[in-house]
Amino acid sequence: MSNIVVFGSQWGDEGKGKIVDMLAEEANAIVRFQGGNNAGHTLVVDGEQCILHLIPSGVLHPGKKCLIGNGVVLDPFVFCEELDKLDAKGLDVSPARMMISKKTHIIMPYHRLVDGARESTKSDAKKIGTTGRGIGPCYEDKMNRCGIRAGDFADPELLLEKIEKALEEKNILFKHLYGTEPLKAKDVFEEVRPVAERLIPYLGDVSSAIQEAQADGSVLFEGAQGTHLDIDHGTYPFVTSSNTVTANAASGSGCSPRDLHRIIAIVKAYTTRVGGGPFATELEDADGEYMQTQGHEFGATTGRKRRCGWLDLVVLKESVRLNGPTELAITKLDVLSGLKEIKLCTAYEYKGEQIAYPPQEQNGMAYVTPVYETMPGWDEDITGARSWDELPQNAVNYLKRIEEITGVKVGIVSVGPDRAQTF
Ligand code: GDP
Ligand code: IMO
Ligand code: MG
Repeated sequence: MSNIVVFGSQWGDEGKGKIVDMLAEEANAIVRFQGGNNAGHTLVVDGEQCILHLIPSGVLHPGKKCLIGNGVVLDPFVFCEELDKLDAKGLDVSPARMMISKKTHIIMPYHRLVDGARESTKSDAKKIGTTGRGIGPCYEDKMNRCGIRAGDFADPELLLEKIEKALEEKNILFKHLYGTEPLKAKDVFEEVRPVAERLIPYLGDVSSAIQEAQADGSVLFEGAQGTHLDIDHGTYPFVTSSNTVTANAASGSGCSPRDLHRIIAIVKAYTTRVGGGPFATELEDADGEYMQTQGHEFGATTGRKRRCGWLDLVVLKESVRLNGPTELAITKLDVLSGLKEIKLCTAYEYKGEQIAYPPQEQNGMAYVTPVYETMPGWDEDITGARSWDELPQNAVNYLKRIEEITGVKVGIVSVGPDRAQTF
């Protein structure tokens, strides 16, 4: 069977969790390969909502292996909280089905402190609007080769030594730049010890587990964030600190790119963004307000109101170019019901020219003007539709136009938050 990669094609919150939950039925294992608990993936089954930040969105399906790859940054406190929450729902969260790669980097308490302190020293215009979860500072330590990895939890001596080393630099920042109290290595070590010990039985070789899972079935790779939050290809510096593009599904989990077969782009039928950064098709009018309220657009991690705007096909075409999707999954189509007209951004005006892809220089995106195509909307409630035939013609035309411009077929349509509201 084919392995599947699910990725966000915009700025996150496209509905990846819902689609992964739906596809997990057919998979042996579900793997997170980047990001951390900056992610908030929402699943709704028979009206009951479950928001996951770290544990793969296949967890509601009994027996499926849930793997956390080396490319993830894992906050052990959040992981334990999530285990407890799922355990209370009666789900099996034992090491028999959950595994964390020994190579996964750990978000330490000082990473969260640096994240918060750094944001608070920036002017409003320069704030990235991070989730404050310590994501960037943890990836920094990874790249700086001084990070703490999950495998270190099994070696307390090494763990303490690495915390001491990390704090040598961090404490200079706390004391002299951020004006906060320096931390004592022993205190941090003691704070982390209980969760570290709890995690030891979950440590393993995720690369081998993927190989095993695909020997007699398929593996589902669950992306977090979105392509335009990618550290290299996103709207830098208003991005997250990992590669969110599908190529990282291989390096972030320990498999070969040849193991990535079906690639599904999750595309919200309009665009949203949380936090700072340019957003060409953003609406600050009644239509934007309509999407925000109809779509309940509040961040699943921080509760912040999401900024809303028209579907940006320039952004989407760039996602197609970078990720190679074999199909699109269009989510939240139902939210557009009731709009008289729907606009699609098909190009940008930039420096006196029309361009088909986002400008590559920093801040370029802040100076583009969207070029729109307008299509008639539809009034019908489509949340009960379960096939293309049950959609109003104008909704079908909208999907067809997206296929035409991106050159990729729509394979999945989602018309409500529930697992069942999909075809
Ligand atoms: P993710 O981060 O990509 O997994 O997406 P989030 O869970 O952060 O945000 C998507 C939100 O939209 C969640 O509240 C979902 O329950 C909801 N959702 C997903 N698909 C649909 C859909 O087709 N229609 C509607 N109305 N809501 C949806
Ligand atoms: P899911 O997986 C939407 C945004 C933050 C901020 C920027 C950097 O649910 O789609 P970070 O804490 O990562 O350093 O913040 O990235 N961001 C997300 N936006 N969905 C997400 O995840 C996000 N994860 C991070 O709002 O602008
Ligand atoms: Mg989300």
